[in-house]
Amino acid sequence: MSSATHLDLSVQLGRLRLPNPILVASGTFGYAREMEGLVDVHRLGGILPKTITQEPRAGNNPWRTLETAAGMLNSIGLDNDGIEAFVAHHMPYLASLGVPIIVSIAGRSHDEFVQMTARLEGVPGIAAIELNISCPNVSGGVDFGTDAAMCERLVADCRAASSVPIIAKLTPNVTSIPTMAKAAAAGGADAISLINTCLGMAIDWRRRRPMLGNVMGGLSGPAIKPIALRAVYQAAQAVETPIIGIGGIATIDDVMEFLVAGASAVQLGTVNFYNPKASMEVLDALPNALTTAGVTNVADIVGTLVTGKSSTKS
Ligand SMILES: Cc1cc2nc3c(=O)[nH]c(=O)nc-3n(C[C@H](O)[C@H](O)[C@H](O)COP(=O)(O)O)c2cc1C
Repeated sequence: MSSATHLDLSVQLGRLRLPNPILVASGTFGYAREMEGLVDVHRLGGILPKTITQEPRAGNNPWRTLETAAGMLNSIGLDNDGIEAFVAHHMPYLASLGVPIIVSIAGRSHDEFVQMTARLEGVPGIAAIELNISCPNVSGGVDFGTDAAMCERLVADCRAASSVPIIAKLTPNVTSIPTMAKAAAAGGADAISLINTCLGMAIDWRRRRPMLGNVMGGLSGPAIKPIALRAVYQAAQAVETPIIGIGGIATIDDVMEFLVAGASAVQLGTVNFYNPKASMEVLDALPNALTTAGVTNVADIVGTLVTGKSSTKS
């Protein structure tokens, strides 16, 4: 029997328990069906399908994606078929996988977020709801993620509208990550995901035109990993609420860095496009990495960074 068999990979995020801390990020894994031939999706700690909205959305004009140095820009604009089509056509398949499904939602208003949360109550197979209050590619998409009072009220009302655990996904495009993390925590979020993409742009100077149809877009991939690590560290210093780290994660070393910085779980995003097996690779490598770190469960490595500085938790 190897020492790895004594390891406990499960993680607890507020009311949400996951079999392991390796999740796939919204918008980068389709509705899982697309990935089934490439990835043993049943092994994942959780799957976040593409964000859904109340009504179907066509998304933004092309171009919508663009490769950059060590990353990509996207301005998809939440292209999706709407909540009813998701519940009818995607949720039965997702529920059949036996993997925690964390449904990502984006409302156009406070009330729409709350209504969508309530609508999902009782739909079989939903382990949690992630509030996408951080999409840079839709008008008004980040208001709830940049205004602390709006964020706290939204999280509180969504939590009250459903018995399903609520996760707030925050944007890095703010002055103070701790302020927004504290607002989400005060609203009762079971966990806080960060980061969504960093607002960026690309220009074709010869044509004097933006490369993206929507002019600006979200930067993701390895290029943003240091920003994401910093955001996770700052949030973990500021709140007791579990953090889900996202941003440029592609290898087991990336995963371990995020855990040490204070994340209790991680989501892999852009890497799914250029190395679809990355989530399986890090799952394979996780037991050895934990053993190397001298711990027997994931929680024992979370937030163990030594800096000599005191935390700002209140
Ligand atoms: C093409 C694309 C589409 C995305 N769509 C969504 C989305 O629908 N909802 C969401 O919350 N995040 C979306 N994201 C953001 C990712 O979930 C993730 O937060 C971000 O890309 C940072 O992680 P990464 O660097 O590992 O990709 C999208 C990212 C990409 C690249």
